Amino acid sequence: MAKARIAVIGAGLMGHGIAQVFALAGHDVVITDAFAQNLETVKSRIVANLRDLGDDEGAVARVAPRADLAEAVRDADYVVEAVLEDLPLKQKLFAEVERHVRPDTILASNTSVIPITAIMQGLEKRERALGTHWWNPPFLVPLVEVIETQWTSPAAIAWTMELHEAAGKKPAHVKKDVPGFIGNRLQHALWREAIALVEQGICDAETVDAVIKASFGRRIAVLGPLENADLVGTDLTLAIHNTVLPAIDSRPGPSPYLQKLVADGKLGFKSGEGFRKWSADEQAALRAKVVAHLKASRDR
Ligand SMILES: NC(=O)c1ccc[n+]([C@@H]2O[C@H](COP(=O)([O-])OP(=O)(O)OC[C@H]3O[C@@H](n4cnc5c(N)ncnc54)[C@H](O)[C@@H]3O)[C@@H](O)[C@H]2O)c1
Repeated sequence: MAKARIAVIGAGLMGHGIAQVFALAGHDVVITDAFAQNLETVKSRIVANLRDLGDDEGAVARVAPRADLAEAVRDADYVVEAVLEDLPLKQKLFAEVERHVRPDTILASNTSVIPITAIMQGLEKRERALGTHWWNPPFLVPLVEVIETQWTSPAAIAWTMELHEAAGKKPAHVKKDVPGFIGNRLQHALWREAIALVEQGICDAETVDAVIKASFGRRIAVLGPLENADLVGTDLTLAIHNTVLPAIDSRPGPSPYLQKLVADGKLGFKSGEGFRKWSADEQAALRAKVVAHLKASRDR
């Protein structure tokens, strides 16, 4: 992949990590943010990550912070936005960006759940617009979902897939702009049933998590569900579905159990209790365990 000029808008949790990945891959990255302090600290945050991971700290030299949006995007081949999850803000931002970039500059949003179609519908050249859904932390989780809208050109998708692949990511082409894309649809199908098992008194929250971690969680990193279905046989999968699917939760909205937790202020780590109680030490230990696991399973 030839060296590209990349602009990242938003230097928060996701934006600084995305900038880091592209800089490490050899691209020139300009990063901008509406808040001066986030720009002032962006290089030191990236250096700290690179050092922690044992990656080349010199890569930070390819990251240039710029306060002015127009200046930040003017020469870009590719612009990726990682500002707050707010539709009017993102729409306004892309309208502004489009005034300053070349007609062929590719424009991407890293939204978690807002439809890419809604964000990009007001653009003049919608064929160059798409979604790229990174996962946190961007430099440790390989997946980037590349989301096509009804307007996106095949060339824009192909270039973006190659950009991410060459930067060491695992891009997945999402051919329709559906809520949750692919990863979060799968993840939250599982969470819905996990909550239903607790709600129905079949087990407690600790048991749900223990069952997953001690069973298919062990193999899921190397054996996806459809590989698994083929491995055991589609006939066996059909037999299981005939019995199990009618019994599992299929309510269209969020569980009343989850709604009550939120209404009661049981918000998880941030309030010290969610599905279960969490001391400060337990929270820190779980966070550290996840990062250590992601680092150990990192592809180099
Ligand atoms: N945090 C996650 O796990 C995660 C995962 C995938 C996608 N996302 C999505 O990525 C985006 C960013 O999330 P985050 O967690 O990095 O948020 P964040 O709050 O850490 O960062 C957002 C940054 O955008 C900046 N900003 C706000 N308005 C701006 C503007 N008008 N122009 C330029 N910069 C502006 C803020 O100052 C902040 O630095 C959101 O759309 C979010 O839904 C987040």
